[in-house]
Amino acid sequence: MAKNTLSITDNRTGKTYELPVTDDTIKAIDLRPLKFDDTDFGLMSYDPAFTNTASCRSQITFIDGDRGILWYRGYPIEQLAEMSTFPETAYLLLHGELPTQAEYEQWIYEITHHTFLHENVKKLVEGFRYDAHPMGMLVSTLAALSTFYPESKEVRDPEVRRKQIYRLIAKTPTLAAFAYRHSRGLPYVQPDNDLSYAGNFLNMLFRMSEVSYEPNPVLEKALDVLFILHADHEQNCSANAMRSVGSSLADPYCSSAAAAAALYGPLHGGANEAVLRMLHEIGTVKNVPKFIEKVKTGEGTRLMGFGHRIYKNYDPRAKIIKQIADQVFEVMGRNPLLDIALELERIALQDDYFVKRKLYPNVDFYSGIIYQAMGFPVEMFPVLFAIGRMPGWLAQWQEMLLDAEQKIARPRQVYTGHKQRDYLPLERRGGVPEPERKPARAAT
Ligand code: ACO
Repeated sequence: MAKNTLSITDNRTGKTYELPVTDDTIKAIDLRPLKFDDTDFGLMSYDPAFTNTASCRSQITFIDGDRGILWYRGYPIEQLAEMSTFPETAYLLLHGELPTQAEYEQWIYEITHHTFLHENVKKLVEGFRYDAHPMGMLVSTLAALSTFYPESKEVRDPEVRRKQIYRLIAKTPTLAAFAYRHSRGLPYVQPDNDLSYAGNFLNMLFRMSEVSYEPNPVLEKALDVLFILHADHEQNCSANAMRSVGSSLADPYCSSAAAAAALYGPLHGGANEAVLRMLHEIGTVKNVPKFIEKVKTGEGTRLMGFGHRIYKNYDPRAKIIKQIADQVFEVMGRNPLLDIALELERIALQDDYFVKRKLYPNVDFYSGIIYQAMGFPVEMFPVLFAIGRMPGWLAQWQEMLLDAEQKIARPRQVYTGHKQRDYLPLERRGGVPEPERKPARAAT
């Protein structure tokens, strides 16, 4: 029978090493014994952007990027989008199993009864300028919650963790809604515990003078499904930030603020905002071919909402979002940007440039069009993504804390800077020579 090992011959020394292969991986630390001589630090692997490095073992989310498959705890995303609710999916991600009736009721009770914010958070939000980006407000207020719940730093205590998980899932929509109302100059709306998670969020965003707010059931359902689709995506940039910051045993408010900051970038959760800006810039369907040409020659921007590090096939979430779009447009009217998006997709899926690179629409390509049709300004798009992603961040964080193999995240580097040199007083400095770009050995 074939051995589950990898034999490596180090041609610098002629020595051969046999490394165990587990779950189709070798441990990078098993390369360390490969030394040129006794003074050598040992071999490392080099993987900027972690394109081929597994940073953890995880039981939360499975993606097969070639086949366009996404499962949460083994359940296909299509089934969850059709039959589950966002709170139930959040429970599943965090606990590993779907809840029983009693567990579900307790869970709903907890995440409904932790939605209110301390009044001082309101003052904090009021301190932002009228045009502050809501994502900046969300990142700041998430971190600020750490100061209201100092016990949250006891991250090794399961009871403390449980409480902060309730709070973060419950309060993130309230923070998001306050940021939105602030940017509109509208009074903040307190949570309504009689509404569903998505319904209450719509209430905190859009309620005006109604005695009680009744969310439109189609929009409420659409938002709930959008949250499900965004709930986790294994080791993406923001989950990696959550795990990395959390690995220093920072409290979950600071860790999730870091995750939200990572999400903000236009190559990650900020892409849905970038897609909308791109569609506006294109303006009409007839400008699409010219825009595609600019993308291909590298003169313009990338085709935002296209391409993915993992999916080399149609993102399964984008397929579901396309279906929701029709339901939302029936209520809110058709978003004219949809025609531009459909034309972009049609041309790109036939174009050699995109076909060869396996670039398909990702989750962000259509989500922004729906959000806009629902009445959200573009700046809110990444905030909506963050609400959906919070259970995933927390599940990843908790899994990391309970994983005996994990330690503080601390990558190595290949140092390419100056060798040691002596300090020169200011009057003796001329032009400083460029550093020799030869890799030095890593520090031990
Ligand atoms: N438009 C045009 N060309 C693209 C695009 C795009 N959207 N995405 C990748 N490419 C090209 C690259 O130029 C590169 O071409 P080359 O081989 O000729 O140099 C090739 O495809 C591979 O691209 P990489 O950047 O190496 O792929 P990577 O896996 O690092 O990037 C990413 C993935 C960041 C998502 C990229 O596809 C991108 O920038 N997409 C647009 C932004 C976007 O939609 N982000 C949202 C991702 S989903 C999410 O985070 C929720």
